[in-house]
Amino acid sequence: MPAQLLDGKSLAERLRQTLAERAKQFNARTGRPAGLAVILVGNNPASEVYVRHKVAACEKATIASQLVRLEASCTTEALLSQIESLNNDSQVDGILVQLPLPEHIPEKRVIEAIAPNKDVDGFHPANAGALFTGQPCLKPCTPFGVMVMLEQIKAPLRGAHAVVVGASNIVGKPLAMMLLQAGATVTICNSKTLNLEEKTRRADILIAAVGRPSLITAEMVKPGAVVIDVGINRLDSGKLVGDVDFERVAQVAQAITPVPGGVGPMTIAMLLQNTLDAAEAASLS
Ligand code: GUN
Repeated sequence: MPAQLLDGKSLAERLRQTLAERAKQFNARTGRPAGLAVILVGNNPASEVYVRHKVAACEKATIASQLVRLEASCTTEALLSQIESLNNDSQVDGILVQLPLPEHIPEKRVIEAIAPNKDVDGFHPANAGALFTGQPCLKPCTPFGVMVMLEQIKAPLRGAHAVVVGASNIVGKPLAMMLLQAGATVTICNSKTLNLEEKTRRADILIAAVGRPSLITAEMVKPGAVVIDVGINRLDSGKLVGDVDFERVAQVAQAITPVPGGVGPMTIAMLLQNTLDAAEAASLS
């Protein structure tokens, strides 16, 4: 395999050690641990796994975490009132409402109810707008993690052509903004994009964030490109794969992330970083 393997698991582990040090220093300086509240509504099996990993990562980093569980049948008002009380809790620096929510609860109202300075997901319009205009803000964890991976391998971004396949609010759109801010020329593709291959073949940095196995084939990749796979798909066989045909694309790319063990572990590391950033900002205000 000629491509360099971008090992998100070990990079995230190193970051988490540094963050654990920062968390200890925060505790020593303020007399309290940084705190993250995770709200899980219902029991979506994938969300259960994600939330468990987030809470365990906090514990390891000596960040106080609380998991707030609500029934899938809970009212929007009950959830909003829970968020309100966490907004007013000075021990809680970060609030994360695990998505997706049950269908009867409007996601937009819930995200907008979180205090922007505790919005460690970076989904609140105040943080999204700040990212859009290049102001300091809490950044969505997955795209933030991708940027840290690119930085770590010193991928040249200024003047590079980055192509982001997928335009979600959680990954594609914020990542495009971060790449633009870093000096890349950015193309965002969505499900309506015509001649996708023509666009992806121009990418020096190619990001796949759609959720479709084997969407990106070797023919769609420029030789020497850096390929970041944000997709997580469970095949009928039970195997976990990304959006990129890993084996073949690895023969063409200069560097590539595996799934699992690529971007995924970085998301949690960035959540810890956002929580500490929020805690430090709160302690200084
Ligand atoms: N569901 C899938 N990804 C995410 C994420 O990054 N944050 C939240 N809150 N929910 C998610």
